[in-house]
Amino acid sequence: MKALTGLVIGAFALTALTTTTPALADGHGHKLMEQVEMKVENKAHAGAIAKRRMAMRAIGGNMKTIGGYLKANKGTPADVAKSATAIANIAKVVPGLFPAGTGLTRYPAVTGAKPEIFADSAGFKKASMMMASAAENLAKVAAAPNVGKKEIGMAFGGLGKSCGSCHKVYRKKLKK
Ligand code: HEC
Repeated sequence: MKALTGLVIGAFALTALTTTTPALADGHGHKLMEQVEMKVENKAHAGAIAKRRMAMRAIGGNMKTIGGYLKANKGTPADVAKSATAIANIAKVVPGLFPAGTGLTRYPAVTGAKPEIFADSAGFKKASMMMASAAENLAKVAAAPNVGKKEIGMAFGGLGKSCGSCHKVYRKKLKK
């Protein structure tokens, strides 16, 4: 029963991800999936690792879009709000993308998921929710009428901090 619940939650997370981040649904992740599957025999584990690494890449891509507006005047505050909302939606499913046994203890070269994620799942969930609320705040700020770059920049800084504070504790950077 527990395994079934896990499957259902996993399927839900995938649906949430593919609907909020089209990049995950249209085949951009195939290469990463193949790379992971070459090193991870367990298909469910390979899928989980590839999926969450794609989710993080999608978050990174949205951060780039927002940075493009702030630094190079690309797009509009409405685009910023859209990207921030996409990040918030992914942030909420992040805790469910790390099933037990898929961390770097078992798969060192394939995932940067530190054992702390599984040992302190409450802390990891809290860090995910901090990202979600920082992203929601940015979306709100960017959607306000006559918003200036200064306000957007401040909210963007807050969101950026949420990445670093989680990565510092829970992620080991993989070698390229
Ligand atoms: C709750 C914790 C947490 C937060 C918050 C978080 N990350 Fe991550 N991130 C991780 C973990 C854990 C990994 C390693 C995943 C793996 O390799 O399985 C990761 C990996 C990444 C990667 C590498 C993906 C790849 O190609 O393997 C990028 C890029 C990334 N994060 C960007 C961001 C950005 C940008 C933010 C903030 C907007 C952010 N992350 C917020 C936990 C987090």
